Amino acid sequence: MSLNICLLPGDGIGPEIMAQAVKIMDVTAKAFGFTVATSEALLGGAAIDAAGTPLPEATVAACTAADAVLLGAVGGPKWDNIEKSIRPERGLLGIRKAMGLFANLRPATLFDELRHACLLRADIAAQGLDVLIVRELTGGIYFGEPKGEETKDGERRAFNTMVYAESEIERIARVAFEAARKRRGKLCSVDKANVLDVSQLWREVVIRTAKDYPDVELSHMYVDNAAMQLVRAPHQFDVMVTGNLFGDILSDEAAVITGSIGMLPSASLGSSGPGLYEPIHGSAPDIAGQDKANPLATILSVAMMLRHSLDMAAPAEAIEAAARAVLKEGWRTGDIMQEGAKLVGCEKMGSLVAERIAK
Ligand code: IPM
Ligand code: MG
Repeated sequence: MSLNICLLPGDGIGPEIMAQAVKIMDVTAKAFGFTVATSEALLGGAAIDAAGTPLPEATVAACTAADAVLLGAVGGPKWDNIEKSIRPERGLLGIRKAMGLFANLRPATLFDELRHACLLRADIAAQGLDVLIVRELTGGIYFGEPKGEETKDGERRAFNTMVYAESEIERIARVAFEAARKRRGKLCSVDKANVLDVSQLWREVVIRTAKDYPDVELSHMYVDNAAMQLVRAPHQFDVMVTGNLFGDILSDEAAVITGSIGMLPSASLGSSGPGLYEPIHGSAPDIAGQDKANPLATILSVAMMLRHSLDMAAPAEAIEAAARAVLKEGWRTGDIMQEGAKLVGCEKMGSLVAERIAK
């Protein structure tokens, strides 16, 4: 079996963490008897510099032709003052839309070895935190029309539209119900149905869709309460499903309270075609090029990619087990460093994981 993976290293620490992910793909392929061919394409600031646009046509073509796409990170201060239509973030939103990646899976888990890093009170952390946020990614207020700016009564006004069609809600709900089935069988749908019409429809469609999943326990929560419950009692959650904007916010919250944002992978999937996998952290321009970044989120994204897009559970587990083993042995990058642990750089961390996969 030969896999064709398109790499989008992007900006900041993107290229260095990507190099470690490639190292891991190579040793995993060797250990499990498959081959990986990679191609590389430009996205974000790197693409603006080289081609004047954050999402060149060639990048869309390379991504859609691949079996799966692995992304580093995009953006940085260099492009902060650029005109808004060609900001690096546009590249990210554009590739999601172009590939039809409507389902964004963002797991936030507390690694046993990193329990000290959790931002919650010890008695709350002790109850555990293992939540999968399923975020709708190609609709909602991010893409809704009308949007823009106008002048009315002598002042400027700007507006966006939060809009969801029934079909968009139903397809993301199905992804979430299926995911809950494979986990602990609980799904919490997050909305603002006490205020927003779009959320009332959201809730109605989720309830309707639930009839096909009687084995999944469904609950509903307003987004403000959900934000609070995530820090107050996160162990109550298994899978959460929500729209684009609420999912953007809640997934950052869930990730950061684990204290190990450098450890968390994510997947963006469409109804067919290649998926896109990326660490949930950003491009960290302050430490770029210094061999300080934590490559584990990208390495674990490779595992997620093998499992979800390529149906290769055994190699995925081998990567995850190797990453856990390295943590257990006390190796740490700066972001997860603790007293008595052994500090290593990005490249060494990648090699440690690779060695354990090869064994
Ligand atoms: C994310 C990011 C993006 C988003 C930005 C960079 C456009 O915050 O992936 O969560 O808002 O979706
Ligand atoms: Mg975000």
